[in-house]
Amino acid sequence: MGKLIILDHPLIQHKLTYIRDENTGTKQFRELVNEVSMLMGFEITRNLPLKEIEVNTPVTNCRAQVLTGKKIGLIPILRAGLGMVDGMLQLLPAARVGHIGLYRDPETFMPVEYYIKLPSDISERLLIVLDPMLATGGSANDAIESLKKRGAKSIKLMCLVAAPEGVKVIQENHPDVDIYICSLDESLNEKGYIVPGLGDAGDRLFGTK
Ligand code: PRP
Ligand code: URA
Repeated sequence: MGKLIILDHPLIQHKLTYIRDENTGTKQFRELVNEVSMLMGFEITRNLPLKEIEVNTPVTNCRAQVLTGKKIGLIPILRAGLGMVDGMLQLLPAARVGHIGLYRDPETFMPVEYYIKLPSDISERLLIVLDPMLATGGSANDAIESLKKRGAKSIKLMCLVAAPEGVKVIQENHPDVDIYICSLDESLNEKGYIVPGLGDAGDRLFGTK
């Protein structure tokens, strides 16, 4: 089964509280999602492999470490995943970015795919799927299936807030995918919203309704 990693760093938890707050406006919401994404990026990249190289400092030469292994692809699920891209790119400026467009049918909560554009070499990359909300799990599950169908072999999922239902779906269907979240919330309500959650992430990020 894939691991569920809850990122309990105090800075992340502090910022998440203000992301949840209904009085937080669009500008601040966007900034906070950006900041939390960068902090999450720090944790999700913690075990990236390193190799030693020789480097000449102004004083002497030495052996020092640089990243090695798979290059990274960031895959935001549209729309709300877009809010997590810039924070991640601040840490990983050379990462390629692929997009998957999905929306949840408001009646059935089933995801509908309307767009996909990916780097050509996804099979050789570590892909980090970005979406603030893991609710029923339908959207993330579909996105991961789409990526695997196109050759992806190494995937991590990064969400701000998750419901137990969504975690279960991903762990059952994709045992190879580790899930990184800031909070495992209580439940889903009858409209498929995470409780307590933060409301509609896309609407709050983009100021729509
Ligand atoms: C939201 C959210 C996730 C999805 C989560 O997107 O950003 O993609 O719902 O729900 P699920 O786990 O039940 O699938 P939404 O469909 O509202 O689209 P948007 O990002 O374009 O607003
Ligand atoms: N999508 C959202 O944006 N929020 C939720 O709580 C559930 C799905």
